[in-house]
Amino acid sequence: MLNIRMRAEKSGKHISGAERIVEDSLRDQVVLSLLKRAESKDAEAINIKIETICEDIKHIPCISGPSGTDKSLEEARCKMKNILVSLGYDGEQILKLFFALSRLRGATIVDVNSLERLEPDKQRGIRVSAFDSINPDLSGKKDHRREAKLLASKVISCPNVVAEICVTDDVNYTFGYIASKKLGYIGITHVKEPQLEWGARVILFDGTIGSGSYEEKLSRTIEYLEKTPILIDE
Ligand code: COA
Repeated sequence: MLNIRMRAEKSGKHISGAERIVEDSLRDQVVLSLLKRAESKDAEAINIKIETICEDIKHIPCISGPSGTDKSLEEARCKMKNILVSLGYDGEQILKLFFALSRLRGATIVDVNSLERLEPDKQRGIRVSAFDSINPDLSGKKDHRREAKLLASKVISCPNVVAEICVTDDVNYTFGYIASKKLGYIGITHVKEPQLEWGARVILFDGTIGSGSYEEKLSRTIEYLEKTPILIDE
């Protein structure tokens, strides 16, 4: 199997990124579809990386749940708080942290009990990567909601991750979601003001689950999220 990754820049800024895990025979088709996707964003520089995956690839189920029907920022934020509270967490403080985040190159990982930020590099964050559906998208277009569910599936499959909160950084959308082991995927609309070039992803880590030291569990979690190849059964 191959992991094919594309990232594109314009005026020195990251504007598009996507990856696929596919059979070797699909290589050329996937490269073309990823190029099409970068070109649709008027990319000035495109980087394509192709790596052979030698290890066995673990399969996980796809998370499921409803898209949102929230009508306003207030409604969305109230719903987000209620979800976090029903999971047993301090919804108010977690959302305060979430909405105060500046735009990172990756996600923030937060201890769900102390609310301490745990990423080794606070400007970069950690980047969820190395995953795809067993039915790879070869269209060259971006299906935001499907991609969000695939990413959330990998995040939530991690033993020490209890939930993920996300809002897209795409200026044309305002949707987000909370994914959790307990409640699955809950889509939320109007999480941010329209046309806002800001997005955030917070991964809630519980270091009390499972054996080993806190540090071991945290580094296993980051390694899994960034590097372990995963295929998602849809
Ligand atoms: N946002 C901003 N900058 C990004 C970026 C992103 N999503 N992805 C890559 N970059 C830039 C960064 O400058 C990065 O350097 P850094 O590691 O110091 O931050 C540089 O490109 C190289 O990143 P790298 O991860 O080595 O690139 P890659 O070509 O191997 O793969 C993607 C990058 C975008 C293809 C891969 O991360 C991906 O497809 N992810 C899809 C899922 C996703 O959107 N993850 C982000 C969720 S947090």
